[in-house]
Amino acid sequence: MAEVIWGLATSHVPSIGAAMDRGKTDDPNWKALFDGYAPARAWLAEHQPDVAIVVYNDHANGIDLDFVPTFGLGTAERYEVADEGFGRRPVPDVIGHPELSLHLVESLIDEEFDLTVFQELAVDHGFTVPLSVWTPDPGDAWPCPVIPLLVNVIQYPQPTAARCYALGQALGRAIRSYPEDITVGVLGTGGMSHQLAGARAGFINPDFDHMWMETIETDPGQLAAMSREELIRKAGSEGIELIMWLVMRGAMDDRVTKVHSDYFVPASNTAAGIALFDNRNGQPA
Ligand code: DHB
Ligand code: FE
Repeated sequence: MAEVIWGLATSHVPSIGAAMDRGKTDDPNWKALFDGYAPARAWLAEHQPDVAIVVYNDHANGIDLDFVPTFGLGTAERYEVADEGFGRRPVPDVIGHPELSLHLVESLIDEEFDLTVFQELAVDHGFTVPLSVWTPDPGDAWPCPVIPLLVNVIQYPQPTAARCYALGQALGRAIRSYPEDITVGVLGTGGMSHQLAGARAGFINPDFDHMWMETIETDPGQLAAMSREELIRKAGSEGIELIMWLVMRGAMDDRVTKVHSDYFVPASNTAAGIALFDNRNGQPA
């Protein structure tokens, strides 16, 4: 039986990756953000999973805007890093885990989540920046195979928060029904509050973010009850990316142990948050 050992929620702001790629993490504008990652990175380095699943959204880099699936899952052996217009990031391509992917596709479709299946997919900052937050120096390869689980957060109507939480719960069941004894880490990416365009461009809501950070641990069902309109009003039009944290949280047990969290404003135009949860209930840290 496979087991979810941890969940990591993190923002995926592209300039966080650029700061790392250009050696600017000690610059005064960035140091506090990266210092805030250190305890999570140290714990994660001691708790390497066999496979990771990254719940993320593409930003019209790997997938054309004419074909945006509500939910999708990658089944490839390998995922190329997308060139988003400035050359590809100097990070390794992603090795997939087709066997677990196929099990997840089958289990989730049996649970009536009719996912789009990607046999080929280039992954953008929504995926690679969270991997860098987790593993700053991957060398030639990321620490384990990684599976992309895509959520549409960029075109109206996005899936509801409740549907994302339910998808996460089905994902947890699917992982636990995998016959091999492997450990799995789940990343929920995006957020926190931000709005990149329109009359409210630059909008950030720290009160909302702090409420979200606390409640995702203790009462995710309360967050799942929010409508997309309420989420956009309170977190900004791109802050709705936070629904992907609910997929991660749904895959975990009702009770989790927070290992570390941090909040930094602003990273580019975004409130950047990180939250790491241990799902190995009752085991020593
Ligand atoms: C920014 C944030 C995002 O979530 C994103 O996908 C792109 C840009 C930003 O704040 O610059
Ligand atoms: Fe984004």
